[in-house]
Amino acid sequence: MSQQLTNEYLTGLAKEFGTPLYVYHAEKIQEQYNKLTKAFNNSNTVFFYACKALTNINILRYIKSLGANVDCSSINEVRLALYAGFPPARILYTSNGIGFSEIEEAQALGVIINIDSLSNLEKFGKKFGRSYPVGVRLRPNIMAGGNLKISTGHDKSKFGIPVDQIEKVLDVVRRYDMNIADLHIHTGSEIKDADVFVKSIEILFDIIPHFKELKFIDLGGGFKVSDRRDFTETDIDAIAKKVNESFASHTQPGARNFQVWFEPGKFLVSQCGYFVTQVNVIKETSSATFVSVDSGFNHLIRPMFYDAYHHIENISNPSGPEKKYSVVGNICETDTFAWDRTLNEVREGDHLVFHNAGAYGFEMSSNFNSRFKPAEVMVKDGKAFLIRKRDVFEDLLRSQVLVD
Ligand code: LLP
Repeated sequence: MSQQLTNEYLTGLAKEFGTPLYVYHAEKIQEQYNKLTKAFNNSNTVFFYACKALTNINILRYIKSLGANVDCSSINEVRLALYAGFPPARILYTSNGIGFSEIEEAQALGVIINIDSLSNLEKFGKKFGRSYPVGVRLRPNIMAGGNLKISTGHDKSKFGIPVDQIEKVLDVVRRYDMNIADLHIHTGSEIKDADVFVKSIEILFDIIPHFKELKFIDLGGGFKVSDRRDFTETDIDAIAKKVNESFASHTQPGARNFQVWFEPGKFLVSQCGYFVTQVNVIKETSSATFVSVDSGFNHLIRPMFYDAYHHIENISNPSGPEKKYSVVGNICETDTFAWDRTLNEVREGDHLVFHNAGAYGFEMSSNFNSRFKPAEVMVKDGKAFLIRKRDVFEDLLRSQVLVD
């Protein structure tokens, strides 16, 4: 049975902690993690939580307690992961486009590193030779993912070293006698189709014979979650089956066996998250009935940035008559959350909740319009914990420098 927080419970949290409010349900994260480990239980597979989705330190600690490793996309995420208690051996830093000094810092911290450019590979080889095993991020030239902005593996993407440049990679590796421990491919976000992963595996197996010391194959993240417009869940069991079959078909008896890595972000934390807002104003116009909530794309940018669909519920009037609304924010720029959306009748003061808000919600929020970032609450074992205070006015001034 899928875990859900009830409307009454969320209304209570809105009253206790105020709005706008991000709420994360820890046991839902566990439910999602268990789906992954169960599906892949017959294979040597390890999951690195892509923490760019949600980095609150309490979430990191909770995910660590489940047994997952962590994937980072900046040196500060690496520092947060260390702070949360992950040992360096369980931290992966999949870099992209970063300065070499950050890679040196990651190396000094002892974490696993995936390098995504020939330039940094060359610098790494020159400085560390074979003394520090390292991974290579490749661009497979595959189009996959929900929206072009979140597709990373195609042939116009900036991510990874294009597979067609493999000879150049091998040249660097040979010249510096490097120890390449893993090959990495991440094709995009919101992938449902197992064949995308199978295609990556096929591409990798073409080049694997060149990497004699390879131990790990990293297939990235991207498992899509149901967003309630499309209720079908990604069939993780089907993906696991196809991935395992594909590995088996490429592995001759007695040949090397690789540990497989995945870096799920959304799959672990999207559905655990609820974004609770309050209705400020209802405005009737000839074109639409606008419902303005006490938020905007400064707090949840996904609808405006990716056309992402977030299911919205009026938790204050769940059995009111259904009507159509345009749900918008209160910032001084167009910040539409949903057009022409059917909701139970909305009154000023009602609480609207946005579902699937755990991943890339708070994490992509900003202080645009000098508004405060929301508070965050984690619900665990039936108890609600404030895990980030709402901003206060001093936060807006904290790093500004006054000059005469
Ligand atoms: N690994 C790498 C190397 C990635 O670049 C990403 C996401 C992930 C793993 C995790 O992907 P996930 O499992 O979360 O789909 N802000 C966008 C998503 C951008 C994803 C960027 N990279 C959104 O809100 O849809």
